[in-house]
Amino acid sequence: MSEAGQLTVAPGGALHGTVQVPGDKSISHRAVMLGALADGVTEVRDCLLGEDVRSTMGAFRAMGIEIEELEGGRLLRVHGRGLRGLRAPTAELDMGNSGTSIRLLSGILAGHGIPATLSGDDSLRRRPMRRVTEPLGRMGAHIHTAANGTPPLVIESGHPLKAITFEMPVASAQVKSAVLLAGLFAEGETAVIEPAPTRDHTERMLTGCGVEVSVDGPRVALRGGQRLTACPITVPADLSSAAFFIVGASIAPGSELLLSNVGVNPTRTGVLSILEAMGARIERLNPRSIGGEPVADLRVSAADLRGIEVDPALVPLAIDEFPILFIAAACARGVTRVRGAEELRHKESDRIATMAAGLGAAGIQVETFDDGIEIHGGALTGTRVDSHGDHRIAMSFAIAALRASGPMVIDGAATIATSFPTFAPLARAAGLRL
Ligand code: S3P
Repeated sequence: MSEAGQLTVAPGGALHGTVQVPGDKSISHRAVMLGALADGVTEVRDCLLGEDVRSTMGAFRAMGIEIEELEGGRLLRVHGRGLRGLRAPTAELDMGNSGTSIRLLSGILAGHGIPATLSGDDSLRRRPMRRVTEPLGRMGAHIHTAANGTPPLVIESGHPLKAITFEMPVASAQVKSAVLLAGLFAEGETAVIEPAPTRDHTERMLTGCGVEVSVDGPRVALRGGQRLTACPITVPADLSSAAFFIVGASIAPGSELLLSNVGVNPTRTGVLSILEAMGARIERLNPRSIGGEPVADLRVSAADLRGIEVDPALVPLAIDEFPILFIAAACARGVTRVRGAEELRHKESDRIATMAAGLGAAGIQVETFDDGIEIHGGALTGTRVDSHGDHRIAMSFAIAALRASGPMVIDGAATIATSFPTFAPLARAAGLRL
């Protein structure tokens, strides 16, 4: 990669060998957050040390939490200070590119009653925050946003929270988690009702820390005032990062790849269901449970993919994998249609627009809708694309080079470090020509 963050990937090749991608981003954020709120020292193994999780770590360090990085970063020791042990930060907290950091932290800080200002990079300062400030406001928090509901978020102190029952208008694990984490500090039982299942790492990890969380169908609830007890956490490899290799091995003829230790929590495996419906060959080997999260090794072989109509029920379960799924669709026979995915417009970039622009430039016929896209499988040419500050857009077009007729040139590829700092060396070792 050049210093300016331009990545050039030569066309062709196949993926082989064994790859262990870094730790799950969602679980890593939560390990640091819950570790900071727990009584005792939390040891976190294989935590992702990408820029997003570093934003979370930086925020807690600025609030008086000691986090040791040992064994070359393989082991973190988070010195928890209990439910109300954080110190008010003396400067604005910079959440960088990380939606998970800003949304979950706003729940924690509003609950704790800590005055703070949370902001981030250009991409984060365009993202909608009313989805968290509105329910937190109903609990009694005072949080100011910019005029259009975007960061910076200014959280006032001195407003104790009361429990609410919140029917979430969007299927969002970040919103669910922000409200539940605020609920830890509120009087009474806080409940969230989900319109569709979303990732449940917060609930699982809170339970692991000894908090009673009741789950009854779409309703998740907890009583405020419960204390967290530190417990060791091992972070599985991130299925969202593995997805780039899963699609790469599926679309590149002759590939056969083993992805080890991958988190396969059923609230995350929509990507596998969608690829399997397209004809992908993915074997789940050695299924096991690590620290309350299901894990498996995945063996992926190249396959002839076919276009499908994606079941809208799978959308929240594959929400971060659509950029790379769109590459799979471009390499499939026939048409793939995704609807009910309006949320893609509110990620690190507008992922419907950025992917449609890149695929169009690479010679693929696409049509977009407010809530989705239709992709006609075809022949990919090489092209130059901009990441728009979105790590998953950059990695998707890097993988697309496996089936392109010319080089893929990706501007703004430095953003890959937010979730997958070792993408380039791992992809090169597996056979991507970058
Ligand atoms: C995340 C939830 C998802 C996902 C994001 C991480 C989390 O966002 O897109 O990358 O860790 O809770 P939404 O829940 O807002 O869809």
